[in-house]
Amino acid sequence: MCGIVGVVGDDFKVFDVVDSLKRLEYRGYDSAGVAYIKDGKVLIFKSVGRIDVLRGSLGEHLKDEISVGIAHTRWATHGSPNDTNAHPHTDCTGKIAIVHNGIIENFRELKAFLEGLGHEFRSDTDTEVIAHLIEEEYKGDIFEAVLNAVRKLDGAYAIGVVHSDHPDTIIAARKGSPLVIGVGNGFSLIASDITPMLRYTKDFIFLEDGDIALLNDKGVKVFRMDGKPVDRRIQRIDLSESAAEKGGYKHFMMKEIMEGPQTLVSAMTGRIKDGYVKIPELEELDLSKITRINVVACGTSYHAAMFFKYFVEQHTDVDVSVEVASEFRYRKPHIDDKTLTLAISQSGETADTLESVRLAKRLGSNIIAITNVVGSTITRESDISIMMNSGPEIGVAATKTYVAQLTILALLGLQLIRERGFWSGRHKRILDNLIRMPEIFENVLSLSDSIRALAEKYSRYEHFMYIGRGYGFITAMEGALKLKEISYIHAEAYPAGELKHGPIALLDEKFPVFAISPSDSLYLKMKSNIIECKARDAKIISVGTSGNGELFDISNDVLFVPRVADELYPLVMAPVIQTFAYHMADIKGYDPDKPRNLAKSVTVE
Ligand code: AGP
Repeated sequence: MCGIVGVVGDDFKVFDVVDSLKRLEYRGYDSAGVAYIKDGKVLIFKSVGRIDVLRGSLGEHLKDEISVGIAHTRWATHGSPNDTNAHPHTDCTGKIAIVHNGIIENFRELKAFLEGLGHEFRSDTDTEVIAHLIEEEYKGDIFEAVLNAVRKLDGAYAIGVVHSDHPDTIIAARKGSPLVIGVGNGFSLIASDITPMLRYTKDFIFLEDGDIALLNDKGVKVFRMDGKPVDRRIQRIDLSESAAEKGGYKHFMMKEIMEGPQTLVSAMTGRIKDGYVKIPELEELDLSKITRINVVACGTSYHAAMFFKYFVEQHTDVDVSVEVASEFRYRKPHIDDKTLTLAISQSGETADTLESVRLAKRLGSNIIAITNVVGSTITRESDISIMMNSGPEIGVAATKTYVAQLTILALLGLQLIRERGFWSGRHKRILDNLIRMPEIFENVLSLSDSIRALAEKYSRYEHFMYIGRGYGFITAMEGALKLKEISYIHAEAYPAGELKHGPIALLDEKFPVFAISPSDSLYLKMKSNIIECKARDAKIISVGTSGNGELFDISNDVLFVPRVADELYPLVMAPVIQTFAYHMADIKGYDPDKPRNLAKSVTVE
């Protein structure tokens, strides 16, 4: 998730813009840059690495007095992290500079069109296309030029644009990526969130999708895509900078759980065309020839991998094996050049997963990585990398990256189903559910307060048993891991059918059961398992499908999620198990963002 800041007003120095950018460092980034107008020219300084590297390259320019400036921290999605791909980007004339957060889905087509008109590109980014598009549209009015340019964009963007002919103006626009305007006395600001602006003002305008704003020495005006002005109210927000970094939440983990809807959008953007899944990164791969897939992963990524196995085996003739990477790497696996290896790692640096990739490669297997970090080791050692585009996940516990992994694996499964000739109306319904998932998530995220109350009720228990069947078992495994890793409460996960083979001996009134029991094809079996557990005096917390009132008869507490396709309950239930674990940890006084003994990326054995 990139970071944008911009200033319009007479009392700023370049130092102020760069210093504001530092307030967005928490978002994570791999390069940074700044553009400002001086003596009728656009000056751009940008470099890969930390903001301090950028500050060093600016040197005395930090003291330059400016009336307009924009700056950016880049979290790479298209194009590796390097100086050329860093923002701001410019056009052929060097008179325009732009910073961008988002993904332009149709940038390849636009780039070809503009190259046909003679435009020359310097970077591999989608963003640079916007600069040349504005150049093409510019006839003297920078607002009109940006408006006409963004109307041609598909995908998500938050942009800030400056032009050397208009040294007191920033044009800002957003669709699908956040952008906020800070309103001051004699100045105005733009930023990806309010954090970098709080030092200057507490008055903000939150742009909405399809807004485009003109900031200049006369103030701020907001318009819609049809060019008509719109009245956006100014909101006073009095937050500390550290509170703002967390979006007003107490911890990054809760902020990142709440980012679920945006995470879903970012994971799907550019991968669904004309009612079918088309993952651009797989263009060179003929999925119709794939009959065997070996998946390697660890922890939460392993649970996502299990979802993929259940999904693909249920709907195709492809055989999927899933291995915990730390075991796989020491085995003598029977894979060859006819086996596709899928390596799932949000960090892209997990040692066990990397060693498993190397082993699979030595055995002749083609490697696809699913990861969240452009330029990570796994991307450099895999044949194909599918990016999760979730933006940096600050909390050590995987939350939004698990949501992104499930989403991409569902898309990959659906593309495999179609290319192996198994596509049917049922798969269309699954895809429709997936497309609607961001709004369904809003419904589930609203459960947070009732989940808090539930956590308070169960916070004194020292053991939990998570059970589920089929896709429900995947949610049970992830729920138990989340609870363990941030609240330090002992939690086991078992296939519900396995309880009678031993684990049920553990159950009594001190050992609550978290029963993942959606109204899917295995519900009646789950119902019997819940009754078995209740008969041992265990307290039952059931997570079911809205409308299934009988869960109240067999449970002590019930949480409901909206009805979705059976295959998508792990996705729709993810916020429930994540939020429960979060509140349990918070109630016990622990810091969910930094759990003891854990690292965000396990780069050692
Ligand atoms: C999940 O909450 C944990 N932080 C951990 O299990 C993690 O999923 C595992 O270490 C794998 O990390 P990766 O996805 O970066 O490879």
